Amino acid sequence: MRLKHCHNYYDFRKLAKKRIPSPIFHYIDGAAEDEVTYRRNASAFNDVDLVPNVLRGVENIDLSTTIFGKKLDLPFFCSPTALQRLFHYDGERAVARAAKKLNTMFGVSTLSTIPVEELSQINTPKLFQFYYHKDKGLNDVVLQKAKEAKFDVLALTVDTIVAGNRERDLRTGFTSPPKITLSSLFEYLTKPMWGINYVTRGKFELPLLKDHVNELSNVAMSIGNYFSKFLDQSMNWNDAEKLSSDWGGHFALKGIMSVEDAKRAVDIGCTGIILSNHGGRQLDGSRSSLDQLSEIVDAVGDKIDVIIDGGIHRGTHMLKALSLGAKACSGGRLYLYALAAAGEVGVEKALNIYKAELERDMKLMGCTKLSDLNRDNLRFRNQ
Ligand code: LAC
Repeated sequence: MRLKHCHNYYDFRKLAKKRIPSPIFHYIDGAAEDEVTYRRNASAFNDVDLVPNVLRGVENIDLSTTIFGKKLDLPFFCSPTALQRLFHYDGERAVARAAKKLNTMFGVSTLSTIPVEELSQINTPKLFQFYYHKDKGLNDVVLQKAKEAKFDVLALTVDTIVAGNRERDLRTGFTSPPKITLSSLFEYLTKPMWGINYVTRGKFELPLLKDHVNELSNVAMSIGNYFSKFLDQSMNWNDAEKLSSDWGGHFALKGIMSVEDAKRAVDIGCTGIILSNHGGRQLDGSRSSLDQLSEIVDAVGDKIDVIIDGGIHRGTHMLKALSLGAKACSGGRLYLYALAAAGEVGVEKALNIYKAELERDMKLMGCTKLSDLNRDNLRFRNQ
């Protein structure tokens, strides 16, 4: 199987599985405990059906949307994700370049593996995802660097107060940097190209953190242990409000699920929220993002941008979320399998596939612009 055989999300997943060592694949692919939320994020889209209209003159489709004051050509973007150079040696650089080609936004994690100074040169809207550490000095430096790199929006992650119980990672022993043990040696030996690139393409490290903490860059640690040891479990609404005012620009909370929290996000000055359960990687049993979307949009959709993340694999999934009132969709695995499969060209191909699906699906729905989509287009099976 090669890149030319990839025609959808699921094909990229298969190719990624072939190309990267299995502990790394399972870090991307896995979720918390029984992975119920992870599966429901995706299957929720199958409980709502599209009701198309016809004879509407659909030769020109406009997929553009405006979020955080920035116009994107597409109503979907790349969620921030950690450790990307473990998946492909170009990491965040590849994702940023592909996002720029399609004129959409990309997110960069505090756990980025490419310096933000470099990513700031890539001229397309960018979101910086902030992890709130116990070390306030570190928080100040990271915030300052995000300002200097001219990110368009700061998103504070609020759903990783502790790490989810990711049992696949416990089984594989996944750490950053990867620690090759006797039991995982075989997995790494079977993917020699990954190993050659890992060793020859520049040192793997986390530039924003490496001067403050050795873990993840030089001392192997699991993501779970990192969160428990270094993130601030006392983080509260006052801290979020202060961070928003220290930042002084577009600000979002990433990982909001309840109406109560969505309203509080408005109160502290957020200009958007990312409705997300962290891809099912945190609280297993949490409701799916799509199931929770209508009530969040009804509560705050006229005040701030509501972005949905979780389980989105197809243009039709995006149409359903947009019809319910999301301003945009985002996803991590949405582009990470493609990154792991083939770097920048892989991500570009994946984004182009989703764009082509959306354009085709809009035409089949009888819609030419996103504002044509609304709840009349949908029927829920259980209602
Ligand atoms: C994860 C964190 C790093 O889900 O966002 O693995």
